[in-house]
Amino acid sequence: MVALARSHSFTPADDEQSAFEADVLKGLSQQRKRLPPKYFYDAAGSELFERITEQPEYYPTRCEMEILRQRGTEIAQLIPPGAALIEFGSGSNKKARLLLAAAPALAAYVPVDISGEMLEQEAAELRPDFPSLKVLPIAADFTQAFELPQEAKDAPARIGFFPGSTIGNFEPHEAAAFLRNAAKTLGPGAKMIIGADLVKDAEILNEAYNDAAGFTEKFNLNLLVRINRELRGTFDLNSFEHHAFYNRERQRVEMHLASLKRQKVKAAGGCFEFRAGETIHTESSYKYTPESLAALARGVGWEPAGVWMDTDCRFSIQAFLLSEPAKR
Ligand code: AVJ
Repeated sequence: MVALARSHSFTPADDEQSAFEADVLKGLSQQRKRLPPKYFYDAAGSELFERITEQPEYYPTRCEMEILRQRGTEIAQLIPPGAALIEFGSGSNKKARLLLAAAPALAAYVPVDISGEMLEQEAAELRPDFPSLKVLPIAADFTQAFELPQEAKDAPARIGFFPGSTIGNFEPHEAAAFLRNAAKTLGPGAKMIIGADLVKDAEILNEAYNDAAGFTEKFNLNLLVRINRELRGTFDLNSFEHHAFYNRERQRVEMHLASLKRQKVKAAGGCFEFRAGETIHTESSYKYTPESLAALARGVGWEPAGVWMDTDCRFSIQAFLLSEPAKR
């Protein structure tokens, strides 16, 4: 019966496409228009993000790599022998490589990502360099519950790895929900190693999200290119503009696409009106302090277990362990 039901269901690609369509329709129908940042990462968007990480103004990737390079051995002390490392939203293996090299007693590495193709390719490149490590990729949306491979379930401990300040893309209540879910997935004795961008001067943040070469602008506008191509959109790229700024009260960088004039746009089967200056909020990138992330994590059962920063204190890697449920 299961097989029969499956044969009638959508393929994952169709599923993804209809989720995109539904999210665009919903997001553009709201009083404050917004689009989920996860849709930035089509092939062109992923390429543009790579370019962003190479820009002099965009410090997060460089700082996080510095921490992993200089403090990797210390961070890897958290990983007990035989453990499984589960990376949420792995994309490229660049950061995991540094941690894997520092943790030779690790038994399994489970990269979890939506893009199955990229996963297999990256796994194939990793295996020859870590011959004794089981590399077990899973294609899944890590914001939803997913099943770990048996080897990872049987390991003495499971360590979550969530680098890249991806946690910053969640609203704080979503970040809490993610951490609660991760606790369930990883189980008793779990630890989490999280890369989080730090609260800092607005000037540095504003420059990081408005690079002079214009890659962040292209990255933001590419969302409209994608909607035009995949959802029969009619966005005129010349009448929308990239806006990015630090919102100090909410401790987040906001990216928007601002309409330069009053106009109507069709997409995903809907028609949407824009006032001149009206924006689509395309991304929030929350910044944390060790205290603010610890408070959020504590609220869902994780205890702070270490903080590492780069020399300029721009970025942090923070570790947490699952606290035992309170006995009553
Ligand atoms: C990949 C979510 C960490 O928020 O800094 C880069 C994405 N947006 N420039 C970030 C991004 C604009 C990035 N994250």
